[in-house]
Amino acid sequence: MLKGISPLINPALLEVMDRMGHGDEVDPSIVPTRTLYTGIRMPAIGLGTFGSDSVSNEAIADAVVGAAAVGYRHFDCASVYGNESLIGRSLRTVMDAGVAREDLWITSKLWNDMHGEGDVLKSCQQSLDDLGLDYLDLYLVHWPFPNFHPPKCDVSSRSPDARPYTHENFMKTWRQMEQLIGNGQVRHIGTSNVTIPKLELILRDALIQPAVNEMELHPQFQQQELFDYVVAHGIVPVGYSPIGSPARPERDRTPEDTVDIEDPVIVEIATKHGIHPATLCVKWAAQRGQVPIPMSTKRRNYLANLTSVCGDPLTAEEMQAIAGIDCGSRLIKGHVFLWEGANDWRDLWDLDGTITT
Ligand SMILES: NC(=O)c1ccc[n+]([C@@H]2O[C@H](COP(=O)([O-])OP(=O)(O)OC[C@H]3O[C@@H](n4cnc5c(N)ncnc54)[C@H](OP(=O)(O)O)[C@@H]3O)[C@@H](O)[C@H]2O)c1
Repeated sequence: MLKGISPLINPALLEVMDRMGHGDEVDPSIVPTRTLYTGIRMPAIGLGTFGSDSVSNEAIADAVVGAAAVGYRHFDCASVYGNESLIGRSLRTVMDAGVAREDLWITSKLWNDMHGEGDVLKSCQQSLDDLGLDYLDLYLVHWPFPNFHPPKCDVSSRSPDARPYTHENFMKTWRQMEQLIGNGQVRHIGTSNVTIPKLELILRDALIQPAVNEMELHPQFQQQELFDYVVAHGIVPVGYSPIGSPARPERDRTPEDTVDIEDPVIVEIATKHGIHPATLCVKWAAQRGQVPIPMSTKRRNYLANLTSVCGDPLTAEEMQAIAGIDCGSRLIKGHVFLWEGANDWRDLWDLDGTITT
């Protein structure tokens, strides 16, 4: 529970705080952690902060305070989510209320239009200023392409400046990421939305290895090969859209998409454990070994997700049954990052084991 709440906080947040102190909060010290190659531990679950174009920035910022109050210490942010300054106010509230900065784990991400020379430092500093922090625990290259698209654009639009992955350019961006560690602005750096062939080159050429790879992971999209590769290289997998992103933007939907929380195996095991299928997805994720970052703005839901990773483990048979429902159902396909001349979204994911150019 938060103690000693500052009287200076945004009145909208007071409402959230009024609902605190139910006695059902989770003691952050019992939340499992994952150890990075630096020896530093990160909480094994975080709160996602992308409103998917449908949840307001204010609702997300309130959820950050509410989630901290129930025991979350890890928040997955990004400049492109457009809410870091509001989240910064929430983090100030949380810290004013007695949570130490060193007990928080804050991630942010470099957006695709800021890969250029000098831009990485600028963008990271902007996120630090917005979040009101002196350092980030983790800074990720959000996508390995410098391909920008306007918010809410049509999925079939192709920016004339968009390009396929160019390793030489990515390494120029990565060198700036490495500099952020030297500057003390960032404690760890990492990748997101990369594939094995891209990672092979990045690991070969990086002076500072990625500590984390953030990737789409949910029961019907387990990416076992990439998951194993990442773990074998001492990189912690962070799993985004762990519930299958049921409220994702329209641009990320296709008719063949599957729905994890309606899968009969998920529904049956969730019922056995007396939890919502969404919560089971989070529980499975943490037990498998990735760090899930579910987004929720509802106290009941974000608390259930946190509680689920702290006890009542799934049996080996249940884990095996869930392993069996993977059907390769990628939901966040990335259409909007395609370049002119690309076939379709599969070109972003190097399906034949070589980098698509
Ligand atoms: N690196 C990347 O490229 C990337 C891409 C996508 C996402 N992300 C990160 O991953 C985070 C999570 O992914 P996501 O937001 O796409 O999807 P998600 O976490 O799989 O799903 C979020 C949805 O699930 C609902 N939900 C959460 N807990 C629930 C529960 N216990 N019971 C019932 N419903 C529940 C939420 O609704 P309520 O609010 O009603 O609970 C929300 O609509 C993002 O917020 C972002 O931080 C990163």
